[in-house]
Amino acid sequence: MREPVAPITKVFRSVSAADTEGLGATLASRYPPGSQSFTVVYLTGDLGAGKTTLARGFLHAAGTTGPIRSPTYTLLEAYETALGTVAHLDLYRLRDPAELDQLGLRDLALPGHLWLIEWAEKGQGWLPPPDVHVRLTVREGAHEIELQALSAVGIAWLERLNA
Ligand SMILES: Nc1ncnc2c1ncn2[C@@H]1O[C@H](COP(=O)(O)OP(=O)(O)O)[C@@H](O)[C@H]1O
Ligand SMILES: [Mg+2]
Repeated sequence: MREPVAPITKVFRSVSAADTEGLGATLASRYPPGSQSFTVVYLTGDLGAGKTTLARGFLHAAGTTGPIRSPTYTLLEAYETALGTVAHLDLYRLRDPAELDQLGLRDLALPGHLWLIEWAEKGQGWLPPPDVHVRLTVREGAHEIELQALSAVGIAWLERLNA
């Protein structure tokens, strides 16, 4: 069981895909060093809001070389990175949350593992709760990116963004 915490929220404005990638890269660079936690990030927002763009920035900054494929059809792509194993999920095409069991997620729910989950709302009731919930919204002239930390690990992480 998790200790209850008071969530904290940070809001960013992104005027380009490069900005959103940059925020993903900043999140990777501020990930608490040596973290052995199992960390879960929900990415929610409409199609085209920038969820994959943010994940790509994160994965590149975490040292992934080569292409970052959108897991639109495979639902899951896993990467060995400098920050540990990163599972990038896209649940847009999930028909039944029971399919999540078949992806072998159980083997990725381990210390030193981090999940970035697009369309996490489709796995509601089946996914672990988020440490950080990223909500992307397309607004006039910019995309708004709200980061909400919901656990001690998430708070420690987002507080490091100021550093
Ligand atoms: N501020 C922005 N942040 C992210 N993407 C942007 C932004 N402005 C324009 N774009 C474009 O919007 C698209 C976002 O796509 P993607 O990251 O795949 O979205 P999602 O995964 O949320 O469906 C890309 O084509 C990107 O170039
Ligand atoms: Mg996407």
